[in-house]
Amino acid sequence: MQPDLIVRNATLPDGRSGRDIAIEGGRIVAIEAAIPARAADEIDAAGHLVSPPFVDCHFHMDATLSLGLPRMNLSGTLIEGIALWGALKPLLTPEAVIARALRYCDLAVSQGLLAVRSHVDVCDDRLLAVEALLEVKRQVAPYLDLQLVAFPQDGYLRSPSAAENLERALDRGVEVVGGIPHFERTMEDGAESLRRLCRIAAERGLRVDIHCDETDDPLSRHVETLASETVRHGLQGRVAGSHLTSMHSMDNYYVSKLLPLMAEAQLQVVANPLINIVLQGRHDTYPKRRGLTRVPELMAAGLTVAFGQDCCMDPWYSLSGADMLDVAHMGLHVAQMTSREAMRACFEAVTTNAAVVMGLDGYGLHVGAWGDLVVLQARDPIEALRLRPPRLHVVRRGRVIARTNPRIATLSVPERPKEVDPSHYAPG
Ligand code: FE2
Repeated sequence: MQPDLIVRNATLPDGRSGRDIAIEGGRIVAIEAAIPARAADEIDAAGHLVSPPFVDCHFHMDATLSLGLPRMNLSGTLIEGIALWGALKPLLTPEAVIARALRYCDLAVSQGLLAVRSHVDVCDDRLLAVEALLEVKRQVAPYLDLQLVAFPQDGYLRSPSAAENLERALDRGVEVVGGIPHFERTMEDGAESLRRLCRIAAERGLRVDIHCDETDDPLSRHVETLASETVRHGLQGRVAGSHLTSMHSMDNYYVSKLLPLMAEAQLQVVANPLINIVLQGRHDTYPKRRGLTRVPELMAAGLTVAFGQDCCMDPWYSLSGADMLDVAHMGLHVAQMTSREAMRACFEAVTTNAAVVMGLDGYGLHVGAWGDLVVLQARDPIEALRLRPPRLHVVRRGRVIARTNPRIATLSVPERPKEVDPSHYAPG
């Protein structure tokens, strides 16, 4: 063994500690205690958590960092966000979209986020954003996996050229079929859009990711059609339902029928807690619904549930910073997932589960996987969620591509320690 990199004394997300991780030729070749070989480059993880990279399986990179263009979203609603984006679309230039996306990817890498599934709006006959993000995908490929979804933001049937544009985008190399049934004019149009989109995916051998039922209307039940069409076309395990916020407001008896249908279809679920805790419940007085889909119940039903970021400084959401621990932290709170097991599941929702949604090959910390990992200034996944600490080292294919200094405060409090490292104050 002649490793290019060894990360020593790592604590893994599953709790194993004191492990060395050797990477050779871009792949993990050993995970053992005290590997005797020496490597060209070595990192002392000093007992800190070493995780596979963060994965964001729901994002909009064509809109990111466009906050305030052409103006701010005053109501804070999804509908005003869609209208604002519609006003911005004709003003987009390829150069601006590419520059913003590349800037965002730099930020993502610094946070240990090395795989992103981005929806890209195809309701623009120029397909400007599609071309721009395909170029970004090529440029960032050495350090970030960018997967694109052909997303008819204005409705697959409602927008006159969306159907043709979606096929054009797929022809150009966009890999996943998107849709937005609750934005079609009628429930029937929404169902029809799903029938057509799943057929396209089956014929082309592609995955599907639908913005599905992102509404507080408990009668928005497109997820039922999505599950049914998934089974009809043999797409089990290749279809994601994103948002699914109407499930929050649905009748419990109906959900008891729905969950087994979703499990039968092996639907993947992507909840977006940052955005949906601010977008949902906007028509409520008090009590205000939270609007997040039923995360613990979906997990208990055996479905793969991931958390996505959705937005970062765009017409829909003016905050966020590519930190998937922020996303998981919000999801944990809104879904009240506070048991030790549930908190670990929230960490998996932004790592391994999100990788399953994207269908990433060679993801994870095991021999044979890509040599991609993140060293965090925390002892375990729960502490990472609590502190959202610096990503001390970000490694891609065995090469360090980002470093952040540890967070250590220097004190001048009499008779107290001079330095405070937050990860030293965890319960033992
Ligand atoms: Fe979205």
